[in-house]
Amino acid sequence: MSRQSSVAHPIVFVMAAGLGTRMKSETPKVLHRIAGRPMLHWVVTAARTAGADRVVAILGHKNELVKSALDASFGAGVVDVAIQPEQRGTGHAVQCALPSVQNEPDDRIVVILSGDAPLLASERIAELTAACAASPAGMALLSTVPPRPMPYGRLVRDAAGKLQKIVEHVDATEEQRKIEDTNAGFYAIKLGHLRKDLASLRADNAKGELYLTDLVAHAAERGGATSIDAPFTEVAGINDRVDLAGVEVAARRRINEAWMRTGVTMVDPASTYIDADVGPLGKDVWIAPNVALRGKTTIGDGVRIDIGSVLTDVTVAENTNIKPYSILTESKIGARAQIGPFSHCRPGSQLDEDVHLGNFVETKKTHLMAGAKANHLAYLGDASVGSKANVGAGVITCNYDGVGKYKTTIEAGAFIGSDSQLVAPVTIGRDAYVGSGTTVTKDVPRGSLALTRVKQVNVEGWADRFREAQAKRKQKGDGE
Ligand code: UD1
Ligand code: CA
Repeated sequence: MSRQSSVAHPIVFVMAAGLGTRMKSETPKVLHRIAGRPMLHWVVTAARTAGADRVVAILGHKNELVKSALDASFGAGVVDVAIQPEQRGTGHAVQCALPSVQNEPDDRIVVILSGDAPLLASERIAELTAACAASPAGMALLSTVPPRPMPYGRLVRDAAGKLQKIVEHVDATEEQRKIEDTNAGFYAIKLGHLRKDLASLRADNAKGELYLTDLVAHAAERGGATSIDAPFTEVAGINDRVDLAGVEVAARRRINEAWMRTGVTMVDPASTYIDADVGPLGKDVWIAPNVALRGKTTIGDGVRIDIGSVLTDVTVAENTNIKPYSILTESKIGARAQIGPFSHCRPGSQLDEDVHLGNFVETKKTHLMAGAKANHLAYLGDASVGSKANVGAGVITCNYDGVGKYKTTIEAGAFIGSDSQLVAPVTIGRDAYVGSGTTVTKDVPRGSLALTRVKQVNVEGWADRFREAQAKRKQKGDGE
């Protein structure tokens, strides 16, 4: 193994074995999502961004589920896993991770993060590591002053301000609970101290757990751990769904502000929902209220996304206009397209440049080539629509017979009249016409007209006679 600088590349433990009882959920707490990304993944991402040499996730409750989520996002085995079979406290959790670093030297710095506090910035990890390296006690931690009283551990200092110990909320006296400075739950410590001090932890406290926070009292004997103050919004831990919602708002604000700084306009950032893994968003993108961008969506320069549109795993090229209430999923949209209002692109839709898709048009596994139009009320499934083809109002591809799915090919320049059904598999040749109201069941050769319409009959005077007869019948009925 290449020995990297311990300060620039710490080993990071992420404590994530807790039950998360207060979430009242079947899903492990750390897999609940913040801006579309499991909260544990935020912490792991911060650690990796900070240059962590290794990340060890300490898992317990439903650990197989959590491990497969980590493998799916970061690659199999990229994040190491240590199992804490029973949750006997944060000190016990870290004890369970020690075997995974048994070959590391005592002067190696270990950063310990909480898997339920997703908004920690990667810079803090670097700060913590540097403070630990500089500290004679070989320990540093993040402190925070919550905006309202929280059940956090209180930082007890001596008259000179040196950190003496952490007292957990449940163990604290009334006097100690008045201390504003609390433990944020993030630490950096030299491995040698960690090994020695963890071995002497005792569960003589209100919860009957092994508290990691008791290491601070050991550090006091070496001159005192260094504390670094961090803003509460960055270190807020999630214990229940009220906390979850609070952190979600803070995460979204952070994401939105970052995009606005790169040149995205948001009419109302508070009602703009952009997931953590979305991006890049181009310059001069304009986003109206109640827009949600999800998954791995990317947006090109100058794109407008109007009210109520939801894009999930969509790529949009430059200068496309997405009008209100359009729903796009797993689709690829070319430049200068016009979409909506009320368009629905289902998975596998591909719209090339200058395509127009209008209101109440649904596409699925369909490729519309450059300049093709389907402006009103259509269903295009398993279809390919050639460039500049025009699909009229009410056109439907009949792609499914209850068993199989079949393909419709509309070649370039073809014109499909309104209210036609194209019964797949079928091909409409280049520049061909399909007359309105046609049910196409056979291929249409290029340049020809397909028509299945019944011949029109006009019965002269029929409507007048009909109305007269009705009126007479009514008069008679009233007289009785
Ligand atoms: C902890 C700190 C407290 C601090 C607060 C900040 C301790 C004893 N207390 O309290 O001083 O103010 O965080 O948010 O550390 N975990 C395990 N195994 C366990 C227990 C917990 O992996 O046996 C994990 C949890 O999944 C969680 C993290 O450790 O991610 C913190 O545990 P939690 O029970 O939430 O600690 P707090 O009571 O919040
Ligand atoms: Ca917590």
